[in-house]
Order: sequence, then C-alpha cells, then structure tokens
Amino acid sequence: MERKLAPKRHDKRKKKTVKQSQFDFSEVYRQLRTNIEYSQFEGDIQVVNLTSTNPAEGKSSVASNLATVSIAKYHNVLLMDCDLRKPVQHKIFNVSNKVGLSNLMKNFDSFDVNDDTYFQKFKDNTSDGKLYLLTSGMKVPNPLELLSSEKFKHLIEKLRTRFDFIVIDCPPVDAVADAIPVSTVTDGTIYVVSAKETNKNDAKAAITQLQRNGANILGTVLTKVEAEAKHYYGYYYNSES
Ligand SMILES: Nc1ncnc2c1ncn2[C@@H]1O[C@H](COP(=O)(O)OP(=O)(O)OP(=O)(O)O)[C@@H](O)[C@H]1O
Ligand SMILES: [Mg+2]
Repeated sequence: MERKLAPKRHDKRKKKTVKQSQFDFSEVYRQLRTNIEYSQFEGDIQVVNLTSTNPAEGKSSVASNLATVSIAKYHNVLLMDCDLRKPVQHKIFNVSNKVGLSNLMKNFDSFDVNDDTYFQKFKDNTSDGKLYLLTSGMKVPNPLELLSSEKFKHLIEKLRTRFDFIVIDCPPVDAVADAIPVSTVTDGTIYVVSAKETNKNDAKAAITQLQRNGANILGTVLTKVEAEAKHYYGYYYNSES
C-alpha cells in the first residue's frame, strides 16, 4: 500500500478539484528519485539538498516527499532539516523538535552516529522503519556559522556511514546564505522553481552563485504547475536545459 505523501499539504490540494485528485504525485516523486539516481555517470548520489530562490516555493514539500518515496529503494533514509530559521519537517511528520541538529552540533565531540539520541525513526504502515528524521533542534543565533563549520562537514561524513540516502532541506538563496555551505558538502543540489512565483533571472543568478561556490546542481523541480499544464511540462529538468 502506498503511503500518502506530505499528508496535510497534499490533502488540501486534493480537495480542490477532481482532476487534481487524480494526479499521481507519488509517481512524480518516484520519477524524481530515479532521475537523481541517474543524474551522474560517475559516483553515486548519496546526499542531496534542496534550495530555491525565494521563500514558499515548495522546497520542504519536495524534500519530505522525496525522502518518503526513497525508502522503497534504500535501507536507511535520513531527512535532515537544515532550515534552522524556519524549520517545518517536524511539523510535516508531526514529531518533536526538542532535540535536533543544533543540539547535536553542540555536543558533536561525543556524538555517536549509531546512537539514536538525535534521530527520530518515522513509523507508519508503510515506512518500514527505514525513514529517520534529524529535525532542526533548538533555535540558534548563528545558523550560517553552524552550517559553514568544519564540524558540519564532519557531521555529513559521519552520516554517510550510517544512511544510504540523505535529503537535506535548506532555506532559499535570496533570503540567507545558509544553503551555500550546505550545497558544497552534498553530492548534488536540487533547485526548486515555482511555476507561479519564481523570477527566471533571479533563479539563474542564484544558481550561478551556488555553482561558483562549488555546488553541483543536479537539476530543477518545477512546483505549483497548473493541473492542465502537467501533461505538457516535465517535473524534473536537467540543469543544462
Ligand atoms: N507542488 C506544489 N504545488 C502547489 N503548492 C505547493 C507545492 N509545494 C508546496 N506547495 C505549497 O506552498 C507552500 C510552501 O511550501 P513549502 O513549505 O514546501 O515551501 P518552502 O520553499 O519550503 O518554503 P520556505 O522558504 O518557507 O522554507 C505551502 O503552503 C505548500 O502547501
Ligand atoms: Mg521550507
């Protein structure tokens, strides 16, 4: 049985029209996962992060759905909330955010990647105990400093030894610089573009800025496409297109 994707958000959309409710979102996200898998000829893609130009373009929704469909393919999937300013993954999955990434970083020297103190196993009928969440944790005054630190790099290296696929939710590039250091320690960055809101030139400039800083842009995901247009537009494009 298929798990319902991003329950709250997609339920809202499902109520809108019959036509929209017939659209198979899980198939779109499975296609995205497959495209990530085949997006690079050399080297596996184990860690990906999501960012976009502006707020509310759909990054967190894509991140949660991508992590959810990925359990069908991987043994252990980690969804990590690196939006330390406006974290939402704990809300999407309805888990506590008392302890998370910021707490882990504070106690990094004694952190054991195989100890579940900071990870939350997400359980439902279909997740099979394979999906883990590392929520943002308590608020910190200096998210950019935390995400740019050597310790954060080391954390990603440690996480790679336990989880075979890691999805990282980041803030938008035009608001804060937090996504830049994260993009340099992942294997690839997925850039979310809203068909409704994103300005093409702003997106191009932000992608160039990420690439100049060493990000490997795997491609873009187009969100908020009108139901009728979904037949004509692809959901995932190669970065060259
Ligand atoms: N593919 C989509 N189609 C239509 N609406 C969407 C889609 N994805 C997300 N939304 C809606 O857009 C809003 C923002 O979604 P989300 O929180 O995923 O964006 P975000 O880019 O992570 O925002 P932020 O920059 O605040 O972190 C939510 O109300 C969500 O329901
Ligand atoms: Mg978000």
